Amino acid sequence: MAKHGALLFYHAFTILIQTISLLSKATSEDREVSIVYLGSLPHGVYSPLSHHPSILQRVIQGSSLESLLVRSYKRSFNGFAAKLTDLEREKLANMKEVVSVFPSRTYQLQTTRSWDFMGFHEKINQTATVESDVVVGVIDSGIWPESESFKDEGFGPPPKRWKGACKGGNNFTCNNKLIGARYYVAESARDGTGHGSHTASTAAGNAVKDVSFYGLAQGTARGGVPSARISAYKVCAPMCMAHNILAAFDDAIADGVDIITISIGFGFIQDLDRDAISIGAFHAMEKGILTSNSAGNNGPLGATVSSLAPWILTVAASSTDRRIIDKVVLGNGTTLVGSSVNTFILNGTSFPLVHGKDVSRNCTERRAGRCEEGCLDSDLVKGKIVLCDDYDRGNTAAYKAGALGSVLYNFRNTDDFSTIPPFAATTLNEKTYSVVMSYMNSTRDPQGTILKSEAINNPAAPLVALFSSRGPNLILPDIIKPDISAPGVQVLAAFSPDASISTTPGDNRHVQYNIMSGTSMACPHAAGVAAYVKSFHPDWSPAAIKSSIMTTAWPMNDSQSYVPTYEFAYGSGHINPVKAIDPGLVYEASKEDYIRLLCMKYDEARVRLLSGDNSTCPIGSDKGSPKDLNYPSMGAKVEPMKPFAVEFHRRVKNVGLANATYTAKIFSESKVEIKVVPEVLSFKSLNEEKTFNMTVAGSGLPYGSQVSAALVWFDGTHNVRSPIVVYTAAEHE
Ligand SMILES: *[C@@H]1O[C@H](CO)[C@@H](O)[C@H](O)[C@H]1NC(C)=O
Ligand SMILES: *[C@@H]1O[C@H](CO)[C@@H](O)[C@H](O)[C@H]1NC(C)=O
Ligand SMILES: *[C@@H]1O[C@H](CO)[C@@H](O)[C@H](O)[C@H]1NC(C)=O
Ligand SMILES: *[C@@H]1O[C@H](CO)[C@@H](O)[C@H](O)[C@H]1NC(C)=O
Ligand SMILES: *[C@@H]1O[C@H](CO)[C@@H](O)[C@H](O)[C@H]1NC(C)=O
Ligand SMILES: *[C@@H]1O[C@H](CO)[C@@H](O)[C@H](O)[C@H]1NC(C)=O
Ligand SMILES: *[C@@H]1O[C@H](CO)[C@@H](O)[C@H](O)[C@H]1NC(C)=O
Ligand SMILES: *[C@@H]1O[C@H](CO)[C@@H](O)[C@H](O)[C@H]1NC(C)=O
Ligand SMILES: *[C@@H]1O[C@H](CO)[C@@H](O)[C@H](O)[C@H]1NC(C)=O
Ligand SMILES: *[C@@H]1O[C@H](CO)[C@@H](O)[C@H](O)[C@H]1NC(C)=O
Repeated sequence: MAKHGALLFYHAFTILIQTISLLSKATSEDREVSIVYLGSLPHGVYSPLSHHPSILQRVIQGSSLESLLVRSYKRSFNGFAAKLTDLEREKLANMKEVVSVFPSRTYQLQTTRSWDFMGFHEKINQTATVESDVVVGVIDSGIWPESESFKDEGFGPPPKRWKGACKGGNNFTCNNKLIGARYYVAESARDGTGHGSHTASTAAGNAVKDVSFYGLAQGTARGGVPSARISAYKVCAPMCMAHNILAAFDDAIADGVDIITISIGFGFIQDLDRDAISIGAFHAMEKGILTSNSAGNNGPLGATVSSLAPWILTVAASSTDRRIIDKVVLGNGTTLVGSSVNTFILNGTSFPLVHGKDVSRNCTERRAGRCEEGCLDSDLVKGKIVLCDDYDRGNTAAYKAGALGSVLYNFRNTDDFSTIPPFAATTLNEKTYSVVMSYMNSTRDPQGTILKSEAINNPAAPLVALFSSRGPNLILPDIIKPDISAPGVQVLAAFSPDASISTTPGDNRHVQYNIMSGTSMACPHAAGVAAYVKSFHPDWSPAAIKSSIMTTAWPMNDSQSYVPTYEFAYGSGHINPVKAIDPGLVYEASKEDYIRLLCMKYDEARVRLLSGDNSTCPIGSDKGSPKDLNYPSMGAKVEPMKPFAVEFHRRVKNVGLANATYTAKIFSESKVEIKVVPEVLSFKSLNEEKTFNMTVAGSGLPYGSQVSAALVWFDGTHNVRSPIVVYTAAEHE
């Protein structure tokens, strides 16, 4: 698995997923680990350990049950994983006590400037005594228990209600900071890839002074809630399978974590009740636990976001004001700025520059120009810097051929793309790469050098990273996803000293702290903020915490980005930790509200299995609209080229000052007409709820259009902001 950051995780896993789809074309006699999801645990006396085999028994012929049953889920919800044939899966799916059956797919794993950038300074009021009661559950690739970020100096014993355990395997010790560990893959919960240590320390790591990555990004590395506890659940080694993800949720919920962070996703999800993360997070929500999940790294194309359930906080990745760049200096004195995290200092000021096509004996000019695997001739690249017309997967062909360094052409012009190369290397965009090419054309003996990376100020921040997956939501088109944006570009955090930092054979550098990019890095920032809110408001529901994070976000503006998609890039905007603890009003949603939403998609019998009670769905054709979920943002997909009038019904709960009067303000630059009734909400007490309706009317939106506006409830102190998005299908959808 790549250690360059989540972008390369994506590339690596694309291949794996393609491989798996080939395998699934095999004969129906082949058994595949599959999940048989039975919904909530039944009330009363229930013995899953006898029920699960008995269900399985009904469809299995001739095989021993023990060898087929992989795992039972029984602590927080009901179900099991088993090795099943296509036919057995089908039979199980038709049983009335089964919600869904689906193959256990492979999910992808998708500082310290980041907190200061958000105005969340180290000296801010953090109430250590309350914060230390908060437990953050991290479902990832494990954790490095000896890291400074997870030392327990100054920590008392775990909270009394903690029911977790330290089952990290051999040579794995927990402490009063890292209070729990479990693993579902490999031999221990120890992190072999660095990803899990990175995300855990970003959410809740200690403040560790004076860390850097080879002198880069120097400062204090810290999590959002440094006094909180961590429990690690290892599901990736390096692949993450759905049946292990569900096992981790089953345990984390029962152990008593307060917030779950999971920087893992699947390329696309077919349905909420066939997605391990949606299912796990639903049961977490039932128990008052908010799940933060990465949006995915498949941007900038639309409808790529893979975290779609409304009970999840879905997090996009954006830049901070610190950008790490790498300079190329040409022999004629021109300096060009490129992207990479290059730690190497070349011993000298000028080296020969050669183009891939000129140092290959056995490849076509085009393939050699792109420095494809096996094309470069070792004798011809020694001591030289090789230019390559391709950067995919961090292109290390020149390194393997023994070159001194390389300059890669990033044809996507994504300056927020950076990798950690195994030798002196950087990427240049179209414009800067062509300067190097014309310089090489202009002289018989082109020379140049690559400098060590440096950090510069990035005044344009925060911008959503190009790789961050975009909405709209393919399963619930009226629920805007992602929900929020948080720092996910070049984040410094704890790492596994076991892992090689560039995954390139021959690169033996090992570090305690590493710089990574991806929505994987953004997700634990949001989890850290959720834990921070929880430490101030221990009794708040997951929906209230999520609402407070969304309605206090900084408005963002995507118009300058490469492919503007506005709310579908960043949701409600950029996370603002300081404001999130005092939102004024919150949009509450209970399990019953989500059940009502599920009734719109599934029949009552299936909804009852999910809810674990006698929930009823409204009778008749009018089941309502997902738009009516009391969501903190307002989205509606409407018919193109036609008049439309959509109505949103909402209720807000007063959590600010007891005696408060809020006035509605609409921010809109479009011709769409937006009305709020009533326009004034007066509260006399805390926790009082008021309802309002909002209509959005207009006509003739062309195919593929998107109208953005915002509603803000203002009481003189609090700005309770909700984005409003009305959009149409892209043509030929
Ligand atoms: C810290 O909390 C105290 C008491 O709640 C408050 O008076 C003070 O303004 C807060 N300081 C900051 C920097 O928020
Ligand atoms: C335990 O793990 C650490 C980290 O990998 C290693 O340094 C140490 O030697 C191990 N100890 C034993 C007894 O295996
Ligand atoms: C530069 O020289 C130093 C000292 O000899 C050496 O340690 C380092 O590896 C050299 N750098 C490169 C990129 O070869
Ligand atoms: C080019 O030659 C090298 C050995 O000289 C070989 O390893 C490599 O596979 C060849 N590449 C192609 C594309 O034929
Ligand atoms: C460099 O020269 C080659 C032919 O000699 C030409 O095809 C190419 O366009 C030139 N590149 C630039 C950037 O000037
Ligand atoms: C160096 O060469 C490039 C490409 O020809 C050119 O754009 C640049 O202006 C030159 N720099 C200087 C200082 O002459
Ligand atoms: C976003 O930025 C563009 C260009 O700077 C500007 O025209 C537009 O009004 C901005 N939108 C909002 C909502 O601020
Ligand atoms: C649901 O209703 C049935 C029949 O009315 C009853 O037997 C059962 O106990 C109820 N279950 C729950 C969980 O309330
Ligand atoms: C509530 O606020 C109103 C208007 O500011 C004021 O007239 C009233 O006295 C306040 N009531 C209480 C109980 O503080
Ligand atoms: C909002 O709309 C609902 C349904 O149309 C209606 O019953 C309710 O009275 C409206 N509320 C307000 C405040 O207008």
